[in-house]
Amino acid sequence: MADSTRFYEKFQPVHYDIYLDIDRAAKHFKGITTIKGNAVDTKIALHQKFLNVASVQADGQDVPFSFSDHQEAIQLELPHSGDVELKVVYDAKLTDTMMGIYPSYYTVAGQKKQLIGTQFETTAARQAFPGIDEPEAKATFSLAIKYDEQPGETIIANMPEDHVENGVHYFQETVKMSTYLVAFAFGELQSKFAKTKSGVEIGVFSTKAHQPKELDFSLDIAKRAIEFYEDFYQTPYPLPQSYQLALPDFSAGAMENWGLVTYREAYMLLDPDNTTLNQKRLIATVITHELAHQWFGDLVTMKWWDDLWLNESFANMMEYVAVDALEPEWNVWEMFQTSEVPMALQRDATDGVQSVHVAVDDPAEIDTLFDGAIVYAKGARMLVMVRALLGDDAMRRGLKNYFAAHQYGNATGADLWQALGEASGMNVGQIMESWLEHPGYPVVEVKVEDGKLMLSQQQFFIGDGEEKSRLWQIPLNANYNQAPAIFSEQSLVLGDYAQLRKQNGRPFRVNVGDNSHVIVKYDETLLNDILDHLDELGAIDQLQLLQDLRLLAEGRQISYAQIVPLLSRFKDSRSGIVNEMLYHVANSLKNFVQPAAKTERQLQQLFDQLSVKQVQRLGWLSQKDESNDDQLTRPIVLSAALYAQNRDTIKQAQALFDQYQDHLADLPADVRGLVLANEVKNYGSQELFDTLLADYQKTADAGFKQDICAALTKTQDDQLIAQLIDRFEDADTIKPQDLRAWFRGVLANDHGQQAAWDWIQQEWSWLEKTVGGDMEFPTYITVISRIFKTSQRLAEFKRFFTPKENDPMLKREIQMDEKVIASRVELIESEQAAVNAAIAKTVAE
Ligand code: BES
Ligand code: ZN
Repeated sequence: MADSTRFYEKFQPVHYDIYLDIDRAAKHFKGITTIKGNAVDTKIALHQKFLNVASVQADGQDVPFSFSDHQEAIQLELPHSGDVELKVVYDAKLTDTMMGIYPSYYTVAGQKKQLIGTQFETTAARQAFPGIDEPEAKATFSLAIKYDEQPGETIIANMPEDHVENGVHYFQETVKMSTYLVAFAFGELQSKFAKTKSGVEIGVFSTKAHQPKELDFSLDIAKRAIEFYEDFYQTPYPLPQSYQLALPDFSAGAMENWGLVTYREAYMLLDPDNTTLNQKRLIATVITHELAHQWFGDLVTMKWWDDLWLNESFANMMEYVAVDALEPEWNVWEMFQTSEVPMALQRDATDGVQSVHVAVDDPAEIDTLFDGAIVYAKGARMLVMVRALLGDDAMRRGLKNYFAAHQYGNATGADLWQALGEASGMNVGQIMESWLEHPGYPVVEVKVEDGKLMLSQQQFFIGDGEEKSRLWQIPLNANYNQAPAIFSEQSLVLGDYAQLRKQNGRPFRVNVGDNSHVIVKYDETLLNDILDHLDELGAIDQLQLLQDLRLLAEGRQISYAQIVPLLSRFKDSRSGIVNEMLYHVANSLKNFVQPAAKTERQLQQLFDQLSVKQVQRLGWLSQKDESNDDQLTRPIVLSAALYAQNRDTIKQAQALFDQYQDHLADLPADVRGLVLANEVKNYGSQELFDTLLADYQKTADAGFKQDICAALTKTQDDQLIAQLIDRFEDADTIKPQDLRAWFRGVLANDHGQQAAWDWIQQEWSWLEKTVGGDMEFPTYITVISRIFKTSQRLAEFKRFFTPKENDPMLKREIQMDEKVIASRVELIESEQAAVNAAIAKTVAE
């Protein structure tokens, strides 16, 4: 996009009438779009991309125009400025890019079918209709859609259908909204409905490849989420309907189109008779995320894309607030600590990372700025910090005013800070500035020096980083009230340690609850004091301790060898998240050992020692009335025991496989992936491979698909690996939306790494063509950087990717990922001996 001026300045649309005639067989559509609006100038431009424009009229008169895909525009000349009605006649192709209007492919009972859907965010509405495709250009929309309709098909859109005439479906006019939120879909759909207390019709839709019961969970969550938000935001949901639709082909995870939210099937459908708490929490958070956007994003929209974080960080926090209110016993804030928090802390420690808020003029740059770990995870962490500072009451009052002031309009980050500031009496904008505008985060160092308890802050890096003497305003949340609420200096003396320790009667800790985006480095005295009272800490505090130690080791501030002997202190924990973090740390030790050599056998022994008691306690099958924590812990410790090659565990897994051989999908969902992987790894054969791959193609159950992918990519057989890679580009086997998981699996497999690496290098242009228009593309590089760990691979990575740095979509990712791999290589080289010695010592004790 060459021209970066805003088209909205010259023309402000008020209402769109969009008529589309879609022919699936010919993969083609015709359109007539009429736009009423106000022209400030006689020379104006509308957005369009890949539309073939036949004519443009202004108030019924043909006007001169030109159009270009490069500029993504139609330039036109009006006879006069002021109020005008534009009419554009055009046609275009339906393409398989998962952007604009696109087909999804699926099979029911062996028959191939299609579902047409849309994905317009960020700038693909212009591939469906001409207009001002900028978030600020809010207008009302009336859709009229005709298609090669067959009996039994359904069409849905943002608003309810008004009437059908001559095969054209007319939808009720929308409220004032941005173009990127327009949506519709049609095909053979099944659906279920409910009504909220306030009368909003909730609908859930999927293809008929699924069992109807797979819709129940999302219907219940969506209904209760809308009710929750109406109460929490103190602002009614303004549309008559809230529809949720699962699409078989979907590039992102889900999309908040107003009144018609779209989802990946894996993020909306589940089999209530065979699911896991993790799957339920995941789907619930996706739905509550998108429904949070119905207000924050749809009702009030960011003024420009540089404030995309405002939409996304907020929705990312609210998904947890909502699910925690709907299902308190799911402890979803604990999940926040094992998903968003480590992601944000890891990524934000690499020099060159973006800040949450990034200035951007050119819409073509938007997708490149889309770093999930920052815009979502760090941003959500920022807002959690704000919420902790303000408290829920002030937060809700502030939000209510924010919605009242900006509804059906647009806002910036500053507008939000102002509303929250007014409600709380705090200068929120000033406190948040350091978090929003700077990349990175600090390590808070706590030590006792000359008998004095001292704090200091400094930016934390993993790998090389340029020290810029940045300071953050850190909500400290210390457990001694002699510490300030906000720590904003470089260093601070709190007082005489012995005295403070005595007065407070417990070990000194900061960032209690882990709500601030920092890590903490305690000196030996303080750390030992905390470790001596480990049992007094809650699950999040224990997890935080392990997490901060691991990060400090990666940042070379302590040695990994120091962590090894601490692990066994956590092994009997009954908390799911403590176990998750424990094995996260333990798994990172795999980087230091030599596969199939003595060092790996010793690490396996360590895994066995850590997991054996828990495996005995929990077994493979869930017990009646067991706790959520036990359910979450089971697959974690079983996976550890399998890595340890614990004979009993392997045998039990095989016995389960035998028992379910003819109906593998029915294996209990929480251990199904482990059972299948165990079978492939230890008892693999061509026959098993064929069976699983056929099941993969046949099943509509996303969870089962993921388990098969995880299992098959673990094969130890070169020939089978070659067969797998042969399927990578076959969309009938592996949909492009799911390919990254397959690639990652094979690359992480020592036996498959070379083949997967060869594949991506050879097929780079194919990959670019297939997922290149999308923010998913750079994440293939991220995946590689999480796995490579030798200097040889680092050199190969540079050889292949450095020449690609001139692609603006890839530049930042390549530069960061090179640092990520380099720091891992260095870490392993310098600490390998010490870590392996520590493992040997620990297992011998
Ligand atoms: N609005 C986004 C999806 C999006 C963002 C599409 C930018 C295109 C450009 C949606 O609300 C979202 O955040 N989806 C997430 C899943 C969510 C549950 C975290 C996604 O797609 O990853
Ligand atoms: Zn979102």
